[in-house]
Amino acid sequence: MDESNRVAVVTGGASGLGRSICEHLARDHRVGVLDVNGAVAEQVADELRAGGAQATAAAVDVSDQDAVADAFAKVRAELGPIEVLVTSAGIGGFTPFEQITLAEWNRYLAVNLTGSFLCLQAALPDMVEKRWGRIVTISSAAGQVGALRQGHYSASKGGVIAMTKTVAMEYARLGITANSLPPFTADTPMLRAAQEAKAVPGVEMMSRIIPVGRVGTGDEIAAVCAFLCSEAASYITGQVVAVNGGAVV
Ligand SMILES: NC(=O)c1ccc[n+]([C@@H]2O[C@H](COP(=O)([O-])OP(=O)(O)OC[C@H]3O[C@@H](n4cnc5c(N)ncnc54)[C@H](O)[C@@H]3O)[C@@H](O)[C@H]2O)c1
Repeated sequence: MDESNRVAVVTGGASGLGRSICEHLARDHRVGVLDVNGAVAEQVADELRAGGAQATAAAVDVSDQDAVADAFAKVRAELGPIEVLVTSAGIGGFTPFEQITLAEWNRYLAVNLTGSFLCLQAALPDMVEKRWGRIVTISSAAGQVGALRQGHYSASKGGVIAMTKTVAMEYARLGITANSLPPFTADTPMLRAAQEAKAVPGVEMMSRIIPVGRVGTGDEIAAVCAFLCSEAASYITGQVVAVNGGAVV
């Protein structure tokens, strides 16, 4: 079997971690870049093609089941059956627990948890057919240990971790692995927006809190993600693989 040039879909591929993951996977995968920001997803796919990769893009709100079906159909038609899925699309924010409105709660659950669920459901039939698949969900340290003023976000990410473990168990015999990667802090537009809003400590304070002494990079997370998507990672499944500088141990 050809172990290179598999088809990978990355949600949230227009920015931050998703974008870094697209760049890493494009070294030896065909890549479908999915994002609600379709114009930037197209730009990322253009850049990957300029670097010699096969890539396509689709605009999709991952919380919309029909839109997810359309986006996966587009990737399948242009690149082939989906063998690797990374779910990085997500929203983050900070609200004191009693002030979280039902609408806000529902939106976090819809994008972060239901969005991941819908993408896994859309990708799994191809993986089952091939008897091979790799799923990496991008969760969060907040889903492992909670986070102040992130009741909605933490709940959504804790759900992602539990869902990933369950999928790992259900599909292990079919050659499909599912793992979750829970960042603590990685330098991305999401983190910078939170720092500018003074919702989280700035880089200096963060660097003092994190045992390794600095904020992580998208590249560091993408490298581990790419390993989890590789043939060599076939015996790793159901795991929460933290790339966090020792912030949560
Ligand atoms: N950066 C960090 O420090 C950090 C920490 C913990 C967890 N995470 C998680 O990592 C993932 C990536 O975050 P990031 O820091 O790269 O953020 P980011 O904001 O740079 O990128 C997120 C991407 O998701 C897309 N997106 C948002 N809602 C969407 C939707 N409904 N449908 C499709 N796409 C949508 C955005 O357009 C954006 O391109 C997120 O799931 C986030 O919760 C990040």
